[in-house]
Amino acid sequence: MCPSGTWKAMSMAAAIFLQLCYSMEAVESSSHHHPDHKIISLPGQPPVGFQHFSGYITVDDHNHKSLFYYFAEAEITPASKPLVLWLNGGPGCSSLGVGAFSENGPFRPDGEVLVRNEYSWNREANMLYVETPVGVGFSYSKSNSSYMAVDDEATATDNLVFLQRWFNKFPQYRHMDLFLAGESYAGHYIPQLAKLIVEINRKEKFNLKGIALGNPVLEFATDLNSQAEFLWSHGLISDSTYNMFTSVCNYSRYVSEYYRDSMSPVCSRVMSQVSKETSKFVDKYDVTLDVCISSVLSQSKVISPNQMTERIDVCVEDKTVNYLNRNDVQKALHARLVGVRRWDVCSNILDYQVLNLEIPTISLVGSLVKQGIPVLVYSGDQDSVIPLTGSRSLVYRLATELGLNTTVPYRVWFEGKQVGGWTQVYGNILSFATIRGASHEAPFSQPGRSLRLFKSFLEGRPLPEVF
Ligand SMILES: *[C@@H]1O[C@H](CO)[C@@H](O)[C@H](O)[C@H]1NC(C)=O
Ligand SMILES: *[C@@H]1O[C@H](CO)[C@@H](O)[C@H](O)[C@H]1NC(C)=O
Ligand SMILES: *[C@@H]1O[C@H](CO)[C@@H](O)[C@H](O)[C@H]1NC(C)=O
Repeated sequence: MCPSGTWKAMSMAAAIFLQLCYSMEAVESSSHHHPDHKIISLPGQPPVGFQHFSGYITVDDHNHKSLFYYFAEAEITPASKPLVLWLNGGPGCSSLGVGAFSENGPFRPDGEVLVRNEYSWNREANMLYVETPVGVGFSYSKSNSSYMAVDDEATATDNLVFLQRWFNKFPQYRHMDLFLAGESYAGHYIPQLAKLIVEINRKEKFNLKGIALGNPVLEFATDLNSQAEFLWSHGLISDSTYNMFTSVCNYSRYVSEYYRDSMSPVCSRVMSQVSKETSKFVDKYDVTLDVCISSVLSQSKVISPNQMTERIDVCVEDKTVNYLNRNDVQKALHARLVGVRRWDVCSNILDYQVLNLEIPTISLVGSLVKQGIPVLVYSGDQDSVIPLTGSRSLVYRLATELGLNTTVPYRVWFEGKQVGGWTQVYGNILSFATIRGASHEAPFSQPGRSLRLFKSFLEGRPLPEVF
């Protein structure tokens, strides 16, 4: 046990010991023994009128796998608002660091303090952010074999168990309307989790009311190969490089060879030309945005492997990384570091089966729609990594397959007096929307428009047609 109350008086030399001592003490109390996950106050946090919670939910008792969550109740009347589970992608990136603290959560770190995000999604819903799978962020396993060869299937199972057990801790949320939302590689996580929820729904009453997917990977080849035209039409690559990138070696082939360790000279040549022309100084996740969003950038490292290895970090510091690595912050969050030295945006210890990227999830989306679950696919329209054109054509193809007619023809939608983007709805159940001027992480770069879209999605209504 640590000598309590003595640490303040100790010299700097003792600091390292104390840090160790603190973390040992933290590990001793397992998640079951936390009487409450309520956050009293986060360091530097402005006063707020809602409650928030965070902590661990054990998803595998045998291997001591625990997933970390952050839960922000709705700003007003939480009991009458739906519950939304939000997941980021990677695979291996943190929903806490990217989703909650950089995109649609109530606060953003700014130096020593937190500032309010006035477009926080907890204005409309109770927001639950989960760091998943184990090895991501504060989530951990006591057996490091749990980090090996993790795949979509295991992740979906753990996410389901998480939700079941989280409801045991928060029973008042069990029968509320439930929505799942996420972006990027969560185009795999969310439909796969939704499928499991629907399967067990006969026994346990989950009130799954819809899913929303932002710039999602839904079908590997279509999503990745739409990059060429996007880069070309935005002037990032030349005509001749565009021709090579579509006829000599396309992007899905490149990524596929990359992860099979079988890079052909021809693909290597084409990609190096693409990289040379696009340059390191443009953010591929928002071709119009200036580059300094390191924490939100890392999310798609698997989807664009070569870009990430060549990316230079122009940011000298990352506010979220600094904030979440503070001892006082971790303590206030009931978080601990197990098996890692620091909290990272994307995991360094997780060994994910990256070829799962090639598993199409668009068919899963189709079966959810067939079972009556509304689906929204939305695209930040400045993202070149998972461009809107691929997502739009996948949604169109799915609607055609399912025999869904257009119920809202392709048109603009408004936020304030400006065009928020374009939308089309099929069979009143399958929607596509762009968010104008938004990046891969749409709520980061277009918070107001993203919140407007989120509100319509929760209400099950088409996006505003007039301003
Ligand atoms: C698992 O973790 C232990 C202790 O942290 C370490 O000694 C061991 O090498 C690790 N095993 C693997 C397979 O990484
Ligand atoms: C991409 O390349 C693969 C392998 O060469 C090919 O099978 C596929 O049709 C190509 N896709 C597109 C959209 O060009
Ligand atoms: C879709 O439109 C076609 C052609 O107008 C019509 O025949 C069909 O019944 C419609 N399907 C549905 C599900 O409304």
